[in-house]
Amino acid sequence: MQKEITLIVGDGIGPEIIVSVQNIFTAVGVPIVWDKVNAGIVSLDSGDELIPQRLIDSVNKNKVALKGPITTPIGKGFKSVNVQLRHMFDLYQNIRPCKSTPGVYSRFENVDTVLFRENTEGLYSGLELYDDRLEMADSIARVTKKGSLRIVKAAFEYARNFGREKVTLVHKANILKSIGKIFLDAGDEIASEYPDIVVNDRIIDNMCMQLVIRPEEYDVIVTTNLFGDILSDLCAGLVGGLGMVAGANVGDDVAIFEAVHGSAPDIAGQDKANPTAIIRSSILMLEHLKMNIFAEAIDLALNKTLKEPQLCTVDLGGPAGTEAFTKSIINNLT
Ligand code: NAI
Repeated sequence: MQKEITLIVGDGIGPEIIVSVQNIFTAVGVPIVWDKVNAGIVSLDSGDELIPQRLIDSVNKNKVALKGPITTPIGKGFKSVNVQLRHMFDLYQNIRPCKSTPGVYSRFENVDTVLFRENTEGLYSGLELYDDRLEMADSIARVTKKGSLRIVKAAFEYARNFGREKVTLVHKANILKSIGKIFLDAGDEIASEYPDIVVNDRIIDNMCMQLVIRPEEYDVIVTTNLFGDILSDLCAGLVGGLGMVAGANVGDDVAIFEAVHGSAPDIAGQDKANPTAIIRSSILMLEHLKMNIFAEAIDLALNKTLKEPQLCTVDLGGPAGTEAFTKSIINNLT
């Protein structure tokens, strides 16, 4: 019995990296069928909505989607499709594992963090006011007790289930006192249910410095939306760059898997994109679907390929294009 998965191709490098996943899945024989839909500029250009009803119906039916990056044009009153999808399906957990990969150059060899970013609140709540007359703008960072409790709980639960030892809460409670208090109070409440897990907290600015000096000290990290967005790119930089890091947007009903990076318009259509991040996102998706045999096979072949510099993509210092890199992964499948 084949499971149907919604496939949101995206734009920019989206089509190139999504084809890479599709080819690898076919080679491994993953028992799924794709329901291909689109969103964003591509959808608008074809005369459809920014987020077509067909996409919403497909995600509601399948409960699981793999998504390519979607461009958000700046200064055109364009609402981010990515943020809208997270709100629409209440995908409150944004999970981003960042681990050093043998063979991939970075300043550190021992990074192994998993970032939990609250994905529906904070400065991304969509509460924006622009006063043309006064030339004044407000972006409201709404943080709720319910939202804080559920993201902190998800981080602690992950730590316990995956044998992690420590959870670090990241905030700016010294200045943003109200939202900081709600978030830290949620941390205290949830931490008391997990006496087996060490808990500490860091102020966001200090956390940035700590991570670029001694990232090996950090295990599971949980934080609010904007801090999580910034920290996850920082963490990507610790393990080889944006082309390497996977992401999962998870709610209680639906999960959408996507790379941390964006549509990379500077390299789109040039066979230069590193598909590792979306392949790793698809591995997270297979684990979510309890298809671990296929997840492990792809992970092994990917890591084997990443160990050979001459097989790697340009961002990793290698000569390979997206297609050649994908073929090497397929050749390395056992
Ligand atoms: P970006 O992540 O697209 O690119 C930043 C830099 O990293 C660029 O130099 C790019 O070439 C490089 N890069 C990114 N992914 C790569 C890969 N797989 N292989 C090799 N190099 C890679 O960030 P940027 O330029 O800030 O955003 C571009 C567009 O993407 C914007 O419209 C933004 O709104 C959108 N975006 C969409 C996201 C999503 O769909 N989830 C997430 C982040 C940004």
